[in-house]
Amino acid sequence: MQIVSSIAAMQRLAKKWQRAGTRIGFVPTMGYLHDGHLSLVKRARQAVGKNGKVVVSIYVNPTQFGPKEDLAKYPRDLKRDLKLLRELNADVVFTPSDAEMYPGLGSTESRPTSGFSTYVVEEKLSRTMEGASRPAHFRGVTTVVAKLFNIVLPDVAVFGQKDFQQAAVIKRMVADLNFPVKIVVAPTLRERDGLAMSSRNKYLDAEQRAQAVILYHALQAAKAAVKQKSISAGRMKIDLNEFTTAAPLARLDYMEFFDPETLEPVAQVKSGTQMALAVFFGKTRLIDNARL
Ligand code: PAF
Repeated sequence: MQIVSSIAAMQRLAKKWQRAGTRIGFVPTMGYLHDGHLSLVKRARQAVGKNGKVVVSIYVNPTQFGPKEDLAKYPRDLKRDLKLLRELNADVVFTPSDAEMYPGLGSTESRPTSGFSTYVVEEKLSRTMEGASRPAHFRGVTTVVAKLFNIVLPDVAVFGQKDFQQAAVIKRMVADLNFPVKIVVAPTLRERDGLAMSSRNKYLDAEQRAQAVILYHALQAAKAAVKQKSISAGRMKIDLNEFTTAAPLARLDYMEFFDPETLEPVAQVKSGTQMALAVFFGKTRLIDNARL
């Protein structure tokens, strides 16, 4: 497994593979890998086969963090990540520096002040939910993913279903800007009790961790409810609020019911509606979603 940190070296390698007709599978990550990430790497390998190349990027992208968010505290363990990726036979781990990705970015800043001034902005799907709660988040995500696609030149890129809105925004960006990349969205991996795997779960103390399962329980209850009949979104929100009130450490950020293609909110929730929610436990914000 090769570790590449320079953009030019990564691009050279990708161009060499392209010339040889070798397929490139790509998994962009912010590191601190868990089994959910590893399942994306396996999916990328499946997509390109044993003769293809699998590239995993590890880069905590400053521009997708808000000024009050956890950029400095975001968990990192490169040594462990590299060991896990070696075990999975990833071909290349791309670990660019802030200085190369965003020239002019100060060490504690999430916005470059000089040396970088071009962003990619999706203007529709990114407005609600995560976009409403975290202004400029998706601008950072689409910008870094566009940059990474131009550096890694993947044929296939794999994203997790847990970040449902992110995957929808990326798919739209790829279609709108004609990136020659196939986007694969792989299922969410869960802990035994149903909590979606996330690098941020590490921030939870024991009590918060025990209560964090309410995200999954709320999704399950919504699924069960729409099996019988369609229900108004307002009624669903009132009914499902019982999960957050039963967990005193939880603070609901949003709960939305929407069309899985357009992400437009629906008035009536029925089978096939997408549900997503974000819940704070202290400063830790967890998200989850499901097709009902
Ligand atoms: O999902 C993530 O980990 C990040 O948003 C991504 C896609 C790696 C971009 O920084």
